[in-house]
Amino acid sequence: RNHKRHTTCRNDINMLNAPLLALFESLIPSDEEKLKQKQLLTLLENLVCKEWPNARLFLYGSCANSFGFPKSDVDVCLQMDLGDVEKSEVLLKLAKIFESDNLQNVQALTRARVPIVKLMDPVTGISCDICINNVLAVVNTKLLHDYARIDIRLRQLAFIVKHWAKSRGVNATYQGTLSSYAYVLMCIHFLQQRRPSILPCLQRMQVTYYVTVEDVECAYFDQVEKLQNFGAQNRESVAQLVWAFFHYWAYCHDYANDVISVRTGSMISKRGKDWTRRVGNDRHLICIEDPFEVSHDLGRVVDKHSIRVLREEFERAAEIMQYDPNPCVTLFEPY
Ligand code: CTP
Ligand code: MG
Repeated sequence: RNHKRHTTCRNDINMLNAPLLALFESLIPSDEEKLKQKQLLTLLENLVCKEWPNARLFLYGSCANSFGFPKSDVDVCLQMDLGDVEKSEVLLKLAKIFESDNLQNVQALTRARVPIVKLMDPVTGISCDICINNVLAVVNTKLLHDYARIDIRLRQLAFIVKHWAKSRGVNATYQGTLSSYAYVLMCIHFLQQRRPSILPCLQRMQVTYYVTVEDVECAYFDQVEKLQNFGAQNRESVAQLVWAFFHYWAYCHDYANDVISVRTGSMISKRGKDWTRRVGNDRHLICIEDPFEVSHDLGRVVDKHSIRVLREEFERAAEIMQYDPNPCVTLFEPY
Protein backbone atom coordinates (compact mmCIF):
# COMPACT_ATOMS: atom_id res chain seq x y z
CA ARG A 1 0.00 0.00 0.00
CA ASN A 2 2.62 2.47 1.09
CA HIS A 3 4.47 2.68 -2.21
CA LYS A 4 1.42 4.38 -3.65
CA ARG A 5 1.10 7.11 -1.07
CA HIS A 6 3.39 9.50 -2.92
CA THR A 7 1.69 9.15 -6.28
CA THR A 8 0.91 12.50 -7.77
CA CYS A 9 -2.39 13.19 -9.31
CA ARG A 10 -3.02 12.45 -13.02
CA ASN A 11 -2.34 15.34 -15.42
CA ASP A 12 -5.81 15.49 -16.86
CA ILE A 13 -7.57 15.57 -13.46
CA ASN A 14 -9.31 18.88 -14.14
CA MET A 15 -11.13 17.32 -17.06
CA LEU A 16 -13.25 15.67 -14.38
CA ASN A 17 -14.44 18.92 -12.83
CA ALA A 18 -17.34 19.55 -15.17
CA PRO A 19 -18.88 16.07 -14.92
CA LEU A 20 -18.40 15.93 -11.13
CA LEU A 21 -20.02 19.34 -10.70
CA ALA A 22 -22.88 18.30 -12.98
CA LEU A 23 -23.37 15.23 -10.81
CA PHE A 24 -23.38 17.40 -7.68
CA GLU A 25 -26.03 19.71 -9.17
CA SER A 26 -28.19 16.73 -10.11
CA LEU A 27 -28.11 15.44 -6.52
CA ILE A 28 -29.31 18.66 -4.87
CA PRO A 29 -32.96 18.47 -3.80
CA SER A 30 -35.28 20.86 -5.61
CA ASP A 31 -37.22 23.66 -3.91
CA GLU A 32 -40.34 21.61 -4.50
CA GLU A 33 -38.81 18.74 -2.54
CA LYS A 34 -37.92 21.08 0.33
CA LEU A 35 -41.44 22.48 0.34
CA LYS A 36 -42.92 18.99 0.64
CA GLN A 37 -40.69 18.31 3.64
CA LYS A 38 -41.87 21.52 5.30
CA GLN A 39 -45.49 20.60 4.65
CA LEU A 40 -44.99 17.23 6.27
CA LEU A 41 -43.35 18.85 9.30
CA THR A 42 -46.28 21.24 9.69
CA LEU A 43 -48.75 18.37 9.49
CA LEU A 44 -46.87 16.46 12.18
CA GLU A 45 -46.58 19.57 14.35
CA ASN A 46 -50.33 20.05 14.30
CA LEU A 47 -51.00 16.44 15.22
CA VAL A 48 -48.42 16.34 18.01
CA CYS A 49 -49.40 19.66 19.59
CA LYS A 50 -53.03 18.60 19.97
CA GLU A 51 -51.85 15.96 22.42
CA TRP A 52 -48.75 17.69 23.86
CA PRO A 53 -49.12 21.49 23.54
CA ASN A 54 -45.60 22.15 24.84
CA ALA A 55 -43.81 19.77 22.52
CA ARG A 56 -41.59 21.10 19.73
CA LEU A 57 -40.45 19.45 16.54
CA PHE A 58 -37.00 19.88 14.99
CA LEU A 59 -35.64 18.58 11.72
CA TYR A 60 -32.22 16.95 11.90
CA GLY A 61 -30.10 14.74 9.67
CA SER A 62 -29.75 15.22 5.96
CA CYS A 63 -32.93 17.25 5.41
CA ALA A 64 -31.51 19.92 7.73
CA ASN A 65 -27.71 19.63 7.48
CA SER A 66 -27.62 20.56 3.74
CA PHE A 67 -26.15 17.20 2.75
CA GLY A 68 -29.49 15.65 1.77
CA PHE A 69 -30.46 13.91 -1.45
CA PRO A 70 -33.92 14.31 -2.99
CA LYS A 71 -35.02 10.90 -1.74
CA SER A 72 -33.52 11.06 1.73
CA ASP A 73 -35.83 10.28 4.63
CA VAL A 74 -36.86 13.13 6.87
CA ASP A 75 -35.48 12.85 10.41
CA VAL A 76 -37.56 14.60 13.08
CA CYS A 77 -36.79 15.07 16.75
CA LEU A 78 -39.68 15.63 19.13
CA GLN A 79 -38.58 17.65 22.13
CA MET A 80 -40.80 17.41 25.19
CA ASP A 81 -40.79 17.10 28.93
CA LEU A 82 -41.45 13.42 29.54
CA GLY A 83 -41.94 13.71 33.30
CA ASP A 84 -42.51 10.19 34.62
CA VAL A 85 -43.76 8.84 31.33
CA GLU A 86 -41.70 6.20 29.50
CA LYS A 87 -40.40 7.10 26.05
CA SER A 88 -41.82 3.90 24.63
CA GLU A 89 -45.26 4.83 25.90
CA VAL A 90 -45.09 8.17 24.09
CA LEU A 91 -43.89 6.49 20.90
CA LEU A 92 -46.79 4.04 20.97
CA LYS A 93 -49.23 6.88 21.52
CA LEU A 94 -47.67 8.83 18.65
CA ALA A 95 -48.04 5.80 16.40
CA LYS A 96 -51.75 5.63 17.26
CA ILE A 97 -52.24 9.32 16.50
CA PHE A 98 -50.48 9.05 13.15
CA GLU A 99 -52.35 5.94 12.16
CA SER A 100 -55.72 7.50 12.81
CA ASP A 101 -54.68 10.43 10.61
CA ASN A 102 -54.12 8.05 7.68
CA LEU A 103 -50.37 8.19 7.64
CA GLN A 104 -49.00 4.95 6.15
CA ASN A 105 -46.55 2.25 7.30
CA VAL A 106 -46.65 3.55 10.86
CA GLN A 107 -44.31 1.55 13.10
CA ALA A 108 -43.05 2.22 16.63
CA LEU A 109 -39.54 0.78 17.10
CA THR A 110 -39.35 1.08 20.88
CA ARG A 111 -36.35 -1.24 21.37
CA ALA A 112 -33.97 0.32 18.84
CA ARG A 113 -30.75 2.00 20.04
CA VAL A 114 -32.48 5.26 19.16
CA PRO A 115 -36.21 4.45 19.60
CA ILE A 116 -38.35 5.93 16.83
CA VAL A 117 -41.71 5.96 15.10
CA LYS A 118 -41.52 5.46 11.34
CA LEU A 119 -44.18 6.61 8.91
CA MET A 120 -44.85 7.46 5.29
CA ASP A 121 -46.96 10.38 4.19
CA PRO A 122 -49.11 9.26 1.23
CA VAL A 123 -49.66 12.85 0.08
CA THR A 124 -45.98 13.74 -0.43
CA GLY A 125 -44.58 10.19 -0.59
CA ILE A 126 -41.98 11.15 2.01
CA SER A 127 -40.83 8.72 4.70
CA CYS A 128 -40.02 10.00 8.10
CA ASP A 129 -38.40 8.81 11.37
CA ILE A 130 -39.40 10.55 14.59
CA CYS A 131 -37.28 10.24 17.73
CA ILE A 132 -37.72 11.86 21.15
CA ASN A 133 -35.35 14.28 22.86
CA ASN A 134 -32.32 13.42 20.74
CA VAL A 135 -31.06 16.98 21.12
CA LEU A 136 -27.41 16.18 20.38
CA ALA A 137 -28.41 15.10 16.89
CA VAL A 138 -30.11 18.46 16.39
CA VAL A 139 -26.96 20.26 17.56
CA ASN A 140 -24.56 18.22 15.40
CA THR A 141 -26.89 18.84 12.46
CA LYS A 142 -26.40 22.57 13.01
CA LEU A 143 -22.61 22.09 13.15
CA LEU A 144 -22.60 20.29 9.79
CA HIS A 145 -24.88 22.91 8.30
CA ASP A 146 -22.60 25.70 9.52
CA TYR A 147 -19.50 24.03 8.06
CA ALA A 148 -21.31 23.67 4.74
CA ARG A 149 -21.84 27.45 4.59
CA ILE A 150 -18.11 28.22 4.73
CA ASP A 151 -16.89 26.71 1.47
CA ILE A 152 -19.02 25.20 -1.29
CA ARG A 153 -16.38 22.53 -1.90
CA LEU A 154 -17.48 20.74 1.27
CA ARG A 155 -20.96 20.10 -0.09
CA GLN A 156 -19.56 19.17 -3.50
CA LEU A 157 -17.12 16.66 -2.04
CA ALA A 158 -19.58 15.23 0.49
CA PHE A 159 -22.38 14.75 -2.07
CA ILE A 160 -19.99 12.87 -4.34
CA VAL A 161 -18.64 10.75 -1.47
CA LYS A 162 -22.16 9.96 -0.21
CA HIS A 163 -23.31 9.09 -3.72
CA TRP A 164 -20.28 6.82 -4.14
CA ALA A 165 -20.91 5.16 -0.75
CA LYS A 166 -24.57 4.50 -1.55
CA SER A 167 -23.75 3.19 -5.05
CA ARG A 168 -21.05 0.88 -3.71
CA GLY A 169 -23.05 -0.42 -0.75
CA VAL A 170 -20.75 0.96 1.94
CA ASN A 171 -23.30 3.26 3.63
CA ALA A 172 -25.09 0.78 5.91
CA THR A 173 -24.21 0.69 9.60
CA TYR A 174 -26.18 -2.55 10.07
CA GLN A 175 -23.71 -4.17 7.65
CA GLY A 176 -20.68 -2.74 9.41
CA THR A 177 -20.02 0.13 7.05
CA LEU A 178 -20.29 3.84 7.77
CA SER A 179 -23.23 6.23 8.25
CA SER A 180 -23.70 9.28 6.07
CA TYR A 181 -22.94 11.34 9.17
CA ALA A 182 -19.53 9.64 9.45
CA TYR A 183 -18.74 10.29 5.77
CA VAL A 184 -19.57 13.98 6.12
CA LEU A 185 -17.28 14.23 9.17
CA MET A 186 -14.52 12.55 7.13
CA CYS A 187 -14.98 15.22 4.46
CA ILE A 188 -14.92 18.09 6.95
CA HIS A 189 -11.79 16.75 8.59
CA PHE A 190 -10.13 16.20 5.22
CA LEU A 191 -10.77 19.84 4.23
CA GLN A 192 -9.50 21.06 7.63
CA GLN A 193 -6.27 19.19 6.87
CA ARG A 194 -5.57 20.61 3.38
CA ARG A 195 -2.73 23.10 3.15
CA PRO A 196 -3.72 25.89 2.93
CA SER A 197 -6.78 24.65 4.80
CA ILE A 198 -10.18 24.89 3.20
CA LEU A 199 -12.15 24.70 6.45
CA PRO A 200 -11.33 26.06 9.91
CA CYS A 201 -11.89 24.22 13.17
CA LEU A 202 -15.01 25.95 14.52
CA GLN A 203 -14.73 24.31 17.95
CA ARG A 204 -11.30 25.90 18.44
CA MET A 205 -12.47 29.42 17.75
CA GLN A 206 -14.23 32.03 19.86
CA VAL A 207 -17.47 30.61 21.25
CA THR A 208 -20.57 32.29 19.82
CA TYR A 209 -22.93 29.34 20.19
CA TYR A 210 -23.25 27.36 23.37
CA VAL A 211 -25.63 24.68 24.66
CA THR A 212 -25.34 21.92 27.22
CA VAL A 213 -27.13 18.72 26.35
CA GLU A 214 -27.20 15.92 28.91
CA ASP A 215 -23.89 17.06 30.44
CA VAL A 216 -22.25 17.41 27.04
CA GLU A 217 -21.01 20.92 26.35
CA CYS A 218 -21.47 21.97 22.77
CA ALA A 219 -19.61 25.18 22.00
CA TYR A 220 -18.28 26.66 18.79
CA PHE A 221 -18.04 29.69 16.54
CA ASP A 222 -21.20 29.79 14.47
CA GLN A 223 -20.95 33.23 12.80
CA VAL A 224 -19.78 31.53 9.66
CA GLU A 225 -20.93 34.36 7.40
CA LYS A 226 -17.71 36.02 8.60
CA LEU A 227 -15.66 33.14 7.18
CA GLN A 228 -16.77 33.33 3.56
CA ASN A 229 -13.22 33.73 2.25
CA PHE A 230 -11.62 31.28 4.62
CA GLY A 231 -10.61 28.73 1.99
CA ALA A 232 -9.76 31.21 -0.78
CA GLN A 233 -5.99 30.67 -0.47
CA ASN A 234 -6.51 27.08 -1.50
CA ARG A 235 -7.37 26.80 -5.19
CA GLU A 236 -7.88 23.05 -5.39
CA SER A 237 -10.72 21.96 -7.64
CA VAL A 238 -13.40 19.47 -6.71
CA ALA A 239 -11.79 16.82 -8.96
CA GLN A 240 -8.46 17.24 -7.19
CA LEU A 241 -10.18 16.98 -3.83
CA VAL A 242 -12.12 13.84 -4.73
CA TRP A 243 -8.89 12.30 -5.98
CA ALA A 244 -7.02 13.30 -2.81
CA PHE A 245 -9.83 12.14 -0.49
CA PHE A 246 -9.79 8.60 -1.83
CA HIS A 247 -6.00 8.59 -2.11
CA TYR A 248 -5.81 9.52 1.56
CA TRP A 249 -8.19 6.79 2.78
CA ALA A 250 -6.67 4.18 0.43
CA TYR A 251 -2.95 4.75 1.02
CA CYS A 252 -2.17 7.36 3.64
CA HIS A 253 -4.40 7.02 6.68
CA ASP A 254 -2.75 5.29 9.63
CA TYR A 255 -5.58 2.97 10.63
CA ALA A 256 -3.58 1.43 13.46
CA ASN A 257 -2.88 4.64 15.37
CA ASP A 258 -4.94 7.62 14.26
CA VAL A 259 -8.34 9.05 15.07
CA ILE A 260 -9.81 11.75 12.88
CA SER A 261 -11.20 14.57 14.97
CA VAL A 262 -13.27 17.44 13.60
CA ARG A 263 -13.42 18.81 17.15
CA THR A 264 -9.67 19.50 17.21
CA GLY A 265 -9.22 19.93 13.46
CA SER A 266 -6.33 17.52 13.59
CA MET A 267 -5.35 13.91 13.90
CA ILE A 268 -5.33 12.53 17.43
CA SER A 269 -4.04 9.22 18.73
CA LYS A 270 -6.03 6.11 19.53
CA ARG A 271 -3.82 5.60 22.54
CA GLY A 272 -4.81 8.96 23.99
CA LYS A 273 -8.45 7.97 23.78
CA ASP A 274 -7.89 4.44 25.01
CA TRP A 275 -9.27 3.14 21.76
CA THR A 276 -6.48 0.61 21.26
CA ARG A 277 -8.23 -2.38 22.77
CA ARG A 278 -11.44 -4.06 21.86
CA VAL A 279 -14.06 -3.32 24.51
CA GLY A 280 -17.33 -5.18 24.08
CA ASN A 281 -18.19 -4.80 20.44
CA ASP A 282 -16.12 -1.66 19.90
CA ARG A 283 -13.11 -2.63 17.81
CA HIS A 284 -11.96 0.79 16.64
CA LEU A 285 -10.66 -0.42 13.28
CA ILE A 286 -11.34 2.99 11.75
CA CYS A 287 -11.72 5.83 14.21
CA ILE A 288 -13.92 8.86 13.71
CA GLU A 289 -14.53 10.91 16.83
CA ASP A 290 -17.97 12.45 17.26
CA PRO A 291 -17.46 16.24 17.56
CA PHE A 292 -19.54 16.52 20.76
CA GLU A 293 -19.90 13.03 22.24
CA VAL A 294 -16.16 12.55 22.24
CA SER A 295 -16.26 9.04 23.68
CA HIS A 296 -18.29 8.04 20.64
CA ASP A 297 -16.36 6.42 17.79
CA LEU A 298 -18.50 6.51 14.63
CA GLY A 299 -16.35 3.69 13.30
CA ARG A 300 -17.43 1.38 16.11
CA VAL A 301 -19.83 -0.42 13.76
CA VAL A 302 -16.94 -1.56 11.55
CA ASP A 303 -15.80 -5.15 12.14
CA LYS A 304 -12.91 -7.21 10.82
CA HIS A 305 -14.84 -8.21 7.73
CA SER A 306 -16.32 -4.82 6.85
CA ILE A 307 -13.02 -2.99 7.37
CA ARG A 308 -11.66 -5.03 4.45
CA VAL A 309 -14.68 -4.21 2.34
CA LEU A 310 -14.30 -0.52 3.14
CA ARG A 311 -10.57 -0.35 2.47
CA GLU A 312 -10.92 -2.26 -0.78
CA GLU A 313 -13.57 0.23 -1.85
CA PHE A 314 -11.32 3.18 -0.95
CA GLU A 315 -8.53 1.59 -3.00
CA ARG A 316 -10.83 0.87 -5.92
CA ALA A 317 -12.00 4.50 -5.88
CA ALA A 318 -8.43 5.79 -5.66
CA GLU A 319 -7.32 3.62 -8.60
CA ILE A 320 -10.27 4.76 -10.68
CA MET A 321 -9.61 8.42 -9.91
CA GLN A 322 -5.98 7.87 -10.92
CA TYR A 323 -6.20 5.71 -14.03
CA ASP A 324 -9.73 5.15 -15.31
CA PRO A 325 -10.62 6.84 -18.61
CA ASN A 326 -14.16 7.49 -17.42
CA PRO A 327 -14.14 7.81 -13.60
CA CYS A 328 -17.47 9.60 -13.37
CA VAL A 329 -19.17 6.43 -14.54
CA THR A 330 -16.92 3.69 -13.14
CA LEU A 331 -16.66 5.20 -9.66
CA PHE A 332 -20.41 4.90 -9.12
CA GLU A 333 -21.03 1.53 -10.76
CA PRO A 334 -23.44 -0.51 -8.63
CA TYR A 335 -21.64 -3.20 -6.64
N1 CTP B 1 -26.46 10.82 14.04
C1 CTP B 1 -25.72 10.87 15.22
N2 CTP B 1 -24.86 9.87 15.54
C2 CTP B 1 -24.70 8.81 14.70
C3 CTP B 1 -25.42 8.74 13.50
C4 CTP B 1 -26.29 9.76 13.20
O1 CTP B 1 -25.86 11.84 15.96
N3 CTP B 1 -23.87 7.83 15.04
C5 CTP B 1 -27.41 11.89 13.75
C6 CTP B 1 -26.78 13.06 13.05
O2 CTP B 1 -27.41 14.24 13.49
C7 CTP B 1 -27.11 12.82 11.61
C8 CTP B 1 -28.49 12.17 11.71
O3 CTP B 1 -28.42 11.40 12.91
O4 CTP B 1 -27.15 14.02 10.88
C9 CTP B 1 -28.85 11.29 10.56
O5 CTP B 1 -27.83 10.36 10.33
P1 CTP B 1 -27.59 9.64 8.96
O6 CTP B 1 -28.80 8.87 8.56
O7 CTP B 1 -26.26 8.95 9.05
O8 CTP B 1 -27.33 10.81 7.95
P2 CTP B 1 -28.21 11.64 7.00
O9 CTP B 1 -27.48 12.94 6.92
O10 CTP B 1 -29.63 11.71 7.41
O11 CTP B 1 -28.01 10.92 5.58
P3 CTP B 1 -28.94 10.15 4.57
O12 CTP B 1 -29.11 11.07 3.40
O13 CTP B 1 -28.13 8.94 4.20
O14 CTP B 1 -30.22 9.84 5.27
MG1 MG C 1 -31.32 10.41 7.24
